[in-house]
Amino acid sequence: MTDFDTVDYFTDPDLVSDPNPYFDYLRNKCPVQREPHHGVIAVTGWEEANAVYKDSESFSSCIAVMGPFTPLPFAAEGDDITEQIEQHRTEIPMYEHMVTMDPPEHTNARSILTSLLTPKRLKENEDFMWRLADRYLDEFIADGKCEFLAAYAKPFSLLVVADLLGVPEADHDEFRAAFGAERPGSRVGSLDHETISANPLEWADEKFTQYIEDRRREPRDDVLTSIATAKYPDGSTPEVIDVVRTATFLFAAGQETTAKLLGAAMQILGDRPDIQQQLREDRSRIPVFIEECLRMESPVKTVFRMTRKSTTVGDLDSPAGTTVMVSPGAANRDPRRFENPHEFSLERKNVREHIAFSRGIHSCPGAPLARVEGRVSIERILDRMADIRIDEDKHGPVGHRNYTYEPTFILRGLTELNITFTPVG
Ligand code: HEM
Repeated sequence: MTDFDTVDYFTDPDLVSDPNPYFDYLRNKCPVQREPHHGVIAVTGWEEANAVYKDSESFSSCIAVMGPFTPLPFAAEGDDITEQIEQHRTEIPMYEHMVTMDPPEHTNARSILTSLLTPKRLKENEDFMWRLADRYLDEFIADGKCEFLAAYAKPFSLLVVADLLGVPEADHDEFRAAFGAERPGSRVGSLDHETISANPLEWADEKFTQYIEDRRREPRDDVLTSIATAKYPDGSTPEVIDVVRTATFLFAAGQETTAKLLGAAMQILGDRPDIQQQLREDRSRIPVFIEECLRMESPVKTVFRMTRKSTTVGDLDSPAGTTVMVSPGAANRDPRRFENPHEFSLERKNVREHIAFSRGIHSCPGAPLARVEGRVSIERILDRMADIRIDEDKHGPVGHRNYTYEPTFILRGLTELNITFTPVG
């Protein structure tokens, strides 16, 4: 039995399989609470989380991903450390990615994305998803069972991002191999696998540098050209490296998270035959199902901010330089916002108030994409698999399931999900 008074959220493996009792404990004490080990202010309430997300004046994103483990090259001094952050910005890990930026750099980086995520592009990307879903299901459907993350969720979410960015289909297998999501038994000859799997994002940076330089030299009628020629809001042209990083960061931000959503959705279908049946009878409920999966199993458990000005979070005084942990996973189960928050319900009226995609200027630009990925996948899975069940040989019987989750304080997701089903058609 974990002692919540003394547990260290960031390192204790006991909180990985189910962090919710701990989040409840914190929220019950106070939705804004200082944890004892790292001096981090933990925000577990829905309203309080929204307030932090929406106040980018008081809160910097410079430590958004690694939180208290970000090695900071300075010690905070005074009531406003904006200058200090800017002076040392490029020494802070991950400074080159938009998720850690503050305005005005953040505004510029987002603008390149906005020019990419047009309704037309999203529609073309959805068309690709329908084809892709069937292509992957074809690979294993006849087996009547699979490890769903490796067989479907990971390669699917990877190639959706590749297609969104306009990576030519001829290069898709190369991307799949580089990100360790290749078809079992297949090997793409020209790749040095060991070097690439050590750092697939660096590999993708090089690949995109070639694409962007090539399109700037010789524009074509394709998506990569529109990314390569996008301008900042002031009309200036971004450096190639800035365009490349905006593009390749989508792989980091969009693949694991969506794969975790798809895994959670499939787990719920397998564990809840009643819900599987309701969706089979009425496909129009799939979007609500996806929202409720996002609320209950928020793939991003925590994001971080740093107070750049001395301020209050909830009622707590927070000197400039304080690390604040805002937890979408916890806020999405706040009973002051969601009735019976630990219950999975397709009837929940306010389900879209969840903050699994965060809020404010950093709110997830990939949210529409992730939602469509969920809908398309579940539609085709229900079409092509009857009687989806959790594989009891691997995960144990109902009531004694044995699932393992990735050991991280940042994301929530299964390490594997073995299912059985009856192939249809
Ligand atoms: C279920 C899937 C996903 C979840 C739960 C998710 C969640 C989040 C969250 C919580 C943030 C905010 C971080 C913060 O406030 O500091 C974020 C940011 C971001 N996400 Fe997602 N995301 C998902 C899918 C995607 C996809 C598919 C893409 C793109 C292809 C994407 C691209 C991004 C980017 C670029 C950012 C940084 C935005 C910024 O800093 O302005 N995400 N995501």
